[in-house]
Amino acid sequence: MLRYEGVSKRFGEVLAVNGVTVTFEPGKVHALLGPNGSGKSTLMKMALGVVVPDSGNVYVDSIDPVKEPIRARSITGYSPEEIILYESLTPAEHISLYGSIYGIERDRLVERSALLVKLFKLDEHMNKLAGELSHGNRRKLSLVLAFLHDPSLIILDEPFSGLDPEAGRILKEFLRKFASEGRTVIFSTHVLELAEAVADEVTIMHRGKVVLKGNREELRSAKEEKGLEEVFLEVTGLSSELKELLELLWRG
Ligand SMILES: Nc1ncnc2c1ncn2[C@@H]1O[C@H](COP(=O)(O)OP(=O)(O)O)[C@@H](O)[C@H]1O
Ligand SMILES: [Mg+2]
Repeated sequence: MLRYEGVSKRFGEVLAVNGVTVTFEPGKVHALLGPNGSGKSTLMKMALGVVVPDSGNVYVDSIDPVKEPIRARSITGYSPEEIILYESLTPAEHISLYGSIYGIERDRLVERSALLVKLFKLDEHMNKLAGELSHGNRRKLSLVLAFLHDPSLIILDEPFSGLDPEAGRILKEFLRKFASEGRTVIFSTHVLELAEAVADEVTIMHRGKVVLKGNREELRSAKEEKGLEEVFLEVTGLSSELKELLELLWRG
C-alpha cells in the first residue's frame, strides 16, 4: 500500500506536486497518467525518500520513507524514468551487486534472477557491458533489478517506454500477476491507451494535482463532466485520429 496525505513539493517557481492526497491500494495495477510535467515522477520519487516533500506525509505501508528510507526501500522496487546503470558492468554483475545490497541469499538470488532474466528475454545479453545494451534491453535490466528482492510495492516510472510490443505484453502480464498476489503496482505513463489497457485503476495528474482516480467505469462517467474534458484532451495530446480513437474507447 502506498498513501500520500496532503503532499506538496516545490522546485523554485514550480509547484511540482500540489496538495496530493491519494491511496494506491494493494492487489491492483495502478496507472499514474498525466501530461509531461504534471508531477508523476516527483510523486513516485517521494515514495523512495529520494525527493523529500515540503509538506504532508507519505506512507509505504506504515513506513515513512523520509524517516526510514532504507526500510521503505526494502519492500519497494523502483525503476526510474531515466535508467541508471553502471556502464562498465554486465547485467550479471548488476544482479550480484543488487543482491548483496538487498541481502538476498545466494541460492535465492540465482534462482529468482534466472527466472526474471528468462521472462524478460535478457539471457543472451547477460555478459555484455551495460553500456553496450540497446535501450530496450537497458529498460528490461532496470525492471529485473526492481523486482529482484521480491518487493510488495513496485513503482515503475514510464516502464513501457523503449520496450518492443512483445516485451510490453510480457510486462503487462507480469504486472497483473504480481498485483493478483496482493501486491501494489504503480506505473506512470502519458499514454491513455496504455493506462486503459494495463491498469485496474487510473489516477490522473494535472499540474501537480490528482484530478481523478477511478476504474474504467468511473473514468467514463467523469469524462462526461464538463471541466475534466480539457484535462483528458491535454493528457491525450490530441490529433483528430486520436480523438476518434478516444471516443471509441470511452464508448466501449
Ligand atoms: N529536480 C528538479 N529541479 C527542478 N525542477 C524539477 C525537478 N524535478 C521536477 N521538476 C519540475 O517539476 C515539474 C514536475 O516534473 P515531473 O515530476 O518530472 O513530471 P512528470 O513526471 O509528470 O513529467 C516539472 O515542471 C519539472 O520541470
Ligand atoms: Mg516523469
